[in-house]
Amino acid sequence: MKTLVVYYSKSGNTRRVAQEIAKGLGAETEEIVEVGVKRTGILGFLRAGRGGMMRKKSRIETPKKRPGDFDLVFVGSPVWGWNLAPAVRSYLAAVDLGQKPMALFCTMGSNGEKKTFESIRELATGSRALGELAVLQSELATPDALARKVDAWAKEMAAQVR
Ligand SMILES: Cc1cc2nc3c(=O)[nH]c(=O)nc-3n(C[C@H](O)[C@H](O)[C@H](O)COP(=O)(O)O)c2cc1C
Repeated sequence: MKTLVVYYSKSGNTRRVAQEIAKGLGAETEEIVEVGVKRTGILGFLRAGRGGMMRKKSRIETPKKRPGDFDLVFVGSPVWGWNLAPAVRSYLAAVDLGQKPMALFCTMGSNGEKKTFESIRELATGSRALGELAVLQSELATPDALARKVDAWAKEMAAQVR
């Protein structure tokens, strides 16, 4: 089975979860890369939070892999402003997941996963979401427990496709 893990990550948390999923399943990864937007400093932070909340898109590099070529696609985002990060919104608008099943994950400080997952489902129409995993930033402090949780979930998702 061919599996792709697509994610955006500004400070590395979502990347860590994505890499854990990929390692456990032997999956390929694609990091969504934003271009032309400053995400540093207080203004960058405020713009980012507003971008999530206002359901904005941002410019991203052209994706290298076609999700339609895979049997299962994991889609991951940090929660920004209680919603999806703009770069992931742009990615989902740009690619065609077709009828391929997907599994959704996010990382967050405390909450906002509901709208984040809702947004992904809305954007990836036609694709069926098999399940969701929200990881708290605090869980990254205990890598072994996190790895067990993420691996178990990822395998549960993959088992639904095999
Ligand atoms: C601009 C911005 C907005 C955020 N908004 C939220 C939020 O609404 N809810 C929340 O629980 N965490 C929020 N966070 C925390 C991030 O979701 C959390 O740190 C996440 O793990 C970051 O992922 P990354 O390291 O992959 O970028 C926000 C962080 C940033 C930078």
